[in-house]
Parts: sequence; structure tokens; C-alpha cells
Amino acid sequence: MKRALGVCYYPEHWPEDLWARDAARMVEAGLDWVRIGEFAWHRIEPAPDQFTFDWLDRAIDVLSSAGLKIILGTPTCTPPRWMLDRFPDMLATDAEGRPRKFGARRHYCFSHAGYRAASGRIAEVLGDRYGRDPRIHAWQIDNEYGCHDTILSYSDAARQAFQTWLAQKYGTIDALNSAWGTVFWSMTYDRFDQIDLPNLTVTQPHPSHTLAFRRFSSDQVVAYHEVQVAALRARTEAPLIHNYMGRVLDFDHFEVGASIDIASWDSYPIGFLSDRLEASEDHKARYLQQGDPDMQAFHHDLYRAVGRAGRWWVMEQQPGPVNWAPYNPAPLPGMVRLWSWEAFAHGAEVVSYFRWRQAPFAQEQMHAGLRRPDDAPAPGLQEVRQVAREIARMPDIALAAAKVALVFDYPSDWAWATLPQGADFSYFRLMLDTYRALRKRGLSVDILPATTSDLSAYKLVLVPGMATLPAALKQALGQTTAIVGPRAGALTPELTIPTPMGPDLPGLDATAVQVESLPPGTHRAVDGGGAVHHWAESLEGTAEVTLPYADGTAFMMRAGTTAYIGGWPDAALWDRLIETEAARAGLETLVLPEGLRIRDTATHRFYFNYGSTTCAFQGLELPAAGVHWHPRDGGKKLRS
Ligand code: GLA
Repeated sequence: MKRALGVCYYPEHWPEDLWARDAARMVEAGLDWVRIGEFAWHRIEPAPDQFTFDWLDRAIDVLSSAGLKIILGTPTCTPPRWMLDRFPDMLATDAEGRPRKFGARRHYCFSHAGYRAASGRIAEVLGDRYGRDPRIHAWQIDNEYGCHDTILSYSDAARQAFQTWLAQKYGTIDALNSAWGTVFWSMTYDRFDQIDLPNLTVTQPHPSHTLAFRRFSSDQVVAYHEVQVAALRARTEAPLIHNYMGRVLDFDHFEVGASIDIASWDSYPIGFLSDRLEASEDHKARYLQQGDPDMQAFHHDLYRAVGRAGRWWVMEQQPGPVNWAPYNPAPLPGMVRLWSWEAFAHGAEVVSYFRWRQAPFAQEQMHAGLRRPDDAPAPGLQEVRQVAREIARMPDIALAAAKVALVFDYPSDWAWATLPQGADFSYFRLMLDTYRALRKRGLSVDILPATTSDLSAYKLVLVPGMATLPAALKQALGQTTAIVGPRAGALTPELTIPTPMGPDLPGLDATAVQVESLPPGTHRAVDGGGAVHHWAESLEGTAEVTLPYADGTAFMMRAGTTAYIGGWPDAALWDRLIETEAARAGLETLVLPEGLRIRDTATHRFYFNYGSTTCAFQGLELPAAGVHWHPRDGGKKLRS
């Protein structure tokens, strides 16, 4: 698949006489794709049923005439002010019962039937006009579901829809009471319409109630999304895309992704480092202008799994300082190029940059683009040009299925957020720690959904933190070398404790009979080196203890090729485990220097130096923010 570059552009933000020059310079810079329209509802429909398509027609004509392929967004993330006159109750409500008001974006509740229909209608209107237009090569539906914490809404619309959802799920109120255990604290219901939303309770609401509400909220995103999918499928053959985010887990992306063609995501490495990563100050200082070495690749591998047939893009790539993180330094020179090549090495079809020119007004006037507000080139543009030249001469990058897999489950994040047991227990953090351990050993990783029932293609599979282990997945573990846990199989789907207690793995008699959460800075030493932090379990059973804690109790128990670990390994222990389990699985591992990551494709090995200093490895001298690649067959080493 030929790789390509793109950019996010807002013709409605600029004088029309700039458009043609912008388009020409996009092409001259080596860009093939341009996304427009995702926030332009008012410019398209300034008053109900009064459409002004002329400007959009001209913008499409100018951009496509320059040779650019257009991604057209449905503008449903920014309903116009008049929509609220039509639907005063369309706003989402936060957990404190406050409306999420007009004046920014994402000001709608996924459960509001009127707005859901209005979103389908505008998709129909745009689809009718542009669905067969060959200049529109793809469609983006809405923008970043979940941005600004907008999945959970405690509105009247959500409450009524939730009660209907519960009735459909449980059938009878007795079945619900039994499944949840509402006998506890006299929380028993007589009717579904008595069940409110799980907010503003005196203390923690019933955990089963909360998890049901999380599942319901995710289903509402899917239902909202499907309305636009149906509208566009009836009007266009072009691929449908949504642009997901970094560390937003509030809905099941596998379920949203199932009905569209391409998963894309918005990659802001430096923003993520200070905004949504648990890491030491030393780590954040070390990667201040590069981003965390594993955060981006994790999401590349996750969204490759979310995309149909592995199709995925980066829809928005950070090109310079953003405006929304606690701290917003500039990328180290070379990082825009590194992030771009890293995405391609993980299988991205397109890397598109946010945005062409920095807006000189509104909320994002401090957010860099490829050009400054005065239209001078910004630092990122020259790196984009370099990448464009390089991909033009680079043979296609064919993906290789990894030999290692990590199973990822959105409902597990909701379950542990509901019942953390430890103040800092985080499913995502556990997943990223596990992923990091694999990548520090030079392993390429596929991420798989919990619905996976065939692991035979993988030599090593890890299943950390999966609250409920599906039977099909448990059965598939025997096809590979597997490390399960910690905190796997610990819950029923109703968020109650199963009997037998977890992990209840076939052929592996090990039970987590006691669990402990550990405060920061504390740990439990493991025999032979390394330790457990954050989370420790006491295991009982007849399975072989292959690694004890220093006090002799079981940390790791095994039967055949499946092992269960009863604790959250620290970096040193993870390194031991990956080395020994990878060797057991017949996998070569490497000890990579700090900040160096590699990724194998079917034809090439790529090296990425996330460090701010030169990195030496296997005869390579990689500069800070350096990228190198060579054919995997050991052939001619391409200069990077
Ligand atoms: C998100 C949104 C964009 C923009 C960028 C800023 O990715 O999709 O509209 O707000 O963040 O970084």
C-alpha cells in the first residue's frame, strides 16, 4: 500500500482568495489528502433548512483541481446555535447535574433522539450532494467521540433511554435485582422506571449499576454513529472514517469501528505526555519534546485492530506546540518526521497533520499548524516535506503480522474505573506498562479484541487486567504461550465476584484468594529480582509455582504454556518475564537502549530514537529524534 500525507484545512476560516494558493502549496509540500468540513455546520446551514453550499462547492473545486483528495467531515460535533432552539434539552448533563452548554463544541447528548435524527439528516443532505462526487475520496463521521469527556451524560434523555435499555437487557426487574445483588443496602427496585442514573448518590453508587450505565453509554455512541453510517452507506461508495483519540476508552471502539472502513486517530505525543500519562518527572523531562516512546505506537497498534481489515490512518498529527495540555513545548527538531515514519512503520496508510495554518482566533489560536498565522512556514513544514520526498522513493511498506499479541478490552477499563480497589489502579496504565515491556525488548506487537477466539498465529500472548475472561479466549490460550493477569477473570459481566473465583483458567489450578492494592513507592519483592507494585494477589492452587515472591508465596503459576501472574510487575520484573517467556516461545529479543524503539514490517526494520541524545545500537548511530530503516533481509541498508 502506498503511503501518503494529508492535512486538516478549514476553508471557512480564511478569505476565499487564499484557497487556491493554499491548495497549490499543499501539493507542492507533497500532501495528497485534505480533510475539510467537520466543524462547518453553521456555514453549511445558517438557519434551519436554509443551505449555503456555494462556498463548499468552490472549496471542493479549488482543492480537488489542485490535485488533492478530499475527506469530507459530517459537522455533527458542532451543532449550530439554532439547533438548541429546536431541541433545548439536547445538551448533555454532567455528573453534577449541570448542562454542557453551547459555546464550545460537542454540546450534545448521545441519547437525545431529536439530535440523533438531526445528525442523520445532515449526513443525508451532504451525502445526497457529495456522495457520488468523485472528488470526495472519503468521509469522516463526526469528530473524536468522547473528546472533552462527553460520552457519559446524566440528562433526562439518557435516563429514559437507560431505563429502556435495562428493561431490554434484563427482561424482568427481578432478573436485574438478582444480577446486581440489590438486596445489599435495600437497593432493590420494583420497576425499571424507578432506576435513575448512577450519579449524585450519597456514596459510591451500586457498582453493577455504574457498569451497566457505562455499557449503555457505549451502546449509545454506537447507535448515534450507526445513524450517520446508514445515511452515508446509502449515498456513497467512498470509505467511512472516524478519528479516535489517545487514551479515551469511554466507549467500545471495536464496536464503533465495526461498521466503518478506516480507523483513524489523532496523535499528539507531546500533549499526551503532560496531559494523560502517569510517569515520573524524570521520564517526562527526558521525553519533554519527543513524547513517550510507547504511547503513540500503542495506539497505532490498537487502532490497526479497530480498523476494518487493519486499515487505519493518523488523521491529526501534532506538527508543533498544541494549546490544550498543561505544558506545551515545541517538538524536538526531527520529531514530526519520526512520528510520521513510526505511524507508517506500524501500518498507517495516511498521516495527516493538524492543521495547515494556525488559526489566529478562538480557542485554538495558540495551536501550531504547518504555517504560522501570518502564513509563514512553521518549523514542522520542512519535516513534512522531507517525509514526502522519502515516501515517494520508498518502496511500499508491507505490514507483517507480529508474533506477539496483547488482548485489549474496553469494558475492563470501565469495570476497574468503577471498582478500582486501589486509588491509582488503571487498566490503561497496566496495558501500557505491559506493552512497554514488550517494546523495550524489540518485539513488534498486535493488539487483539477480547472477542478473539484464535491465537494460533501468535507465539506469545499477554492478557493483563481483563475483568471477565470470555470462554472462547480462555480456550484459545492453549494455542500459544500466554501470560494472563494480573487481575484477570476476577469479575462477572455484572461486576460481581464469580464462583469459582478468578482467574479460573482451563487446566491451570490457581485462584486469586486475596488481593491488595499498594500505595506509590511500595512494592513486594519477587525471588530473583524485580518486584510487584500497585497490585498484588495471593494465589492458591495445585498448579506449578514457577516464580515466587521473596517470601515464598506464589507470584507466577503455570500449567503447560499458560501462566498466571498474581501482581503488577515493575519494569525490572517485566523485563525478566518478557525475556524468559519470549525465549520459551522461541522469540528473539533485544535489549534496546533507553528511548530506542524498533518496528518490523514485512520487508524492513525501522529504528526510532525517542531520545534527545544520540543513540548507538548494533553499529547504528542514531541522532536525537533519528529514524533509520533497512531491509529485513539484511540487504542494502537504506540511508535514513
Ligand atoms: C483534536 C480535534 C481537533 C483539534 C485538535 C487540537 O484532535 O480533533 O479539532 O481540536 O484536537 O490538538
